[in-house]
Amino acid sequence: MSFDLNSLLRPHIAKLQPYTSARDEYTGKDGVFLDANENPFGSITAQDFNRYPDPYQSDLKEEIAKIKHVRPTQIFLGNGSDEAIDLLFRAFCNPGKDNVILLPPTYGMYEVSAGINDVEIRKVALTDDFQLQPEKILAAADEHSKILFICSPNNPSANKAKREDILFLLKNFKGLVVVDEAYIDFSDEPSFTTELVNYPNLLVMQTFSKAWGLASLRLGMAFSSEEIIQILNRIKPPYNISGLTQETVLAAIQNKEKVDQMIKEILAERDFLQKEMVKLPFVQKIHPSHANFLLVKIPKANQVYDDLIAEKVIVRNRAKVLLCEDCLRITVGTRAENEALLSALRKVCESPLSTDHSRQHPNKQVEI
Ligand SMILES: Cc1ncc(COP(=O)(O)O)c(C=O)c1O
Repeated sequence: MSFDLNSLLRPHIAKLQPYTSARDEYTGKDGVFLDANENPFGSITAQDFNRYPDPYQSDLKEEIAKIKHVRPTQIFLGNGSDEAIDLLFRAFCNPGKDNVILLPPTYGMYEVSAGINDVEIRKVALTDDFQLQPEKILAAADEHSKILFICSPNNPSANKAKREDILFLLKNFKGLVVVDEAYIDFSDEPSFTTELVNYPNLLVMQTFSKAWGLASLRLGMAFSSEEIIQILNRIKPPYNISGLTQETVLAAIQNKEKVDQMIKEILAERDFLQKEMVKLPFVQKIHPSHANFLLVKIPKANQVYDDLIAEKVIVRNRAKVLLCEDCLRITVGTRAENEALLSALRKVCESPLSTDHSRQHPNKQVEI
């Protein structure tokens, strides 16, 4: 398939003259800096933050490139992956004219960003076992379908999409295919970044918010062709990644073994939680997980959710979401947190005070 990036891009973005910041014009490190209206005396905090940060995060991208096996020019960094999602809409989708394809149940921000940007959404549901329907996806698309969002491992279902289905869509979908890999570090699946050389229409998103334990810093990554990354760089706010975030993540990358160790622990805890939850008579189904959470079917999930909150155990209620009826999404915690969840679940679902025996599900289906 030939992929024409220019016909995908909104015409006014192609012509846009980007903002040039003071740090764009002079990139040297030494000198008397009187170009950015900063405070020359330093900051009121112990650490100085008075200078604007590198707008293109060059040092950080060098290091990310090494661990992700891509070139620095193939990386966009955003204030969370959510910033990359929003910029993709702004770059490629003409409000009131273009559309994007979403595959529910999936991550909610694709729909919210489409709404903010006044872009039509075409939904093609996943199958009952949360797999893609490639032919239906192609049938739903037309010449105004600019982006297809595939989340794998998927939030909230936790499973991974079949690789061959994603490859089929990369070959046949005429717009940009975004593969959101926020949870890839918890999966045995290799990243789609290895396919960037083969597919100019591929953009892979990852984040430092999950496995790296840096959600509060807000750092998301997008990997794609140099041309697509340049477009995102031209329309992003000039200093979208704070200096503190750049420095902290740069140091964190030198400590990658610790991340690998945390991932191992989270996977061991995921195993523990699955094995213990299987034993609970009221748990109807645990969906297979390639992420750091479990999607669990429990009859009367709305009530269980409220009762858990009363026990100060907070999970995510997905009961109203398509294909997730009576499901709670439960993040894998530490051993102590997982034990607290299990005992709260036993209490709220098995309490002799609870006369609601319909929670005891006779036909348990547990898939791990
Ligand atoms: C699938 C998916 N993508 C992206 C994000 C957002 O990540 P970030 O914290 O980098 O904005 C999330 C957060 O929950 C997510 O589940």
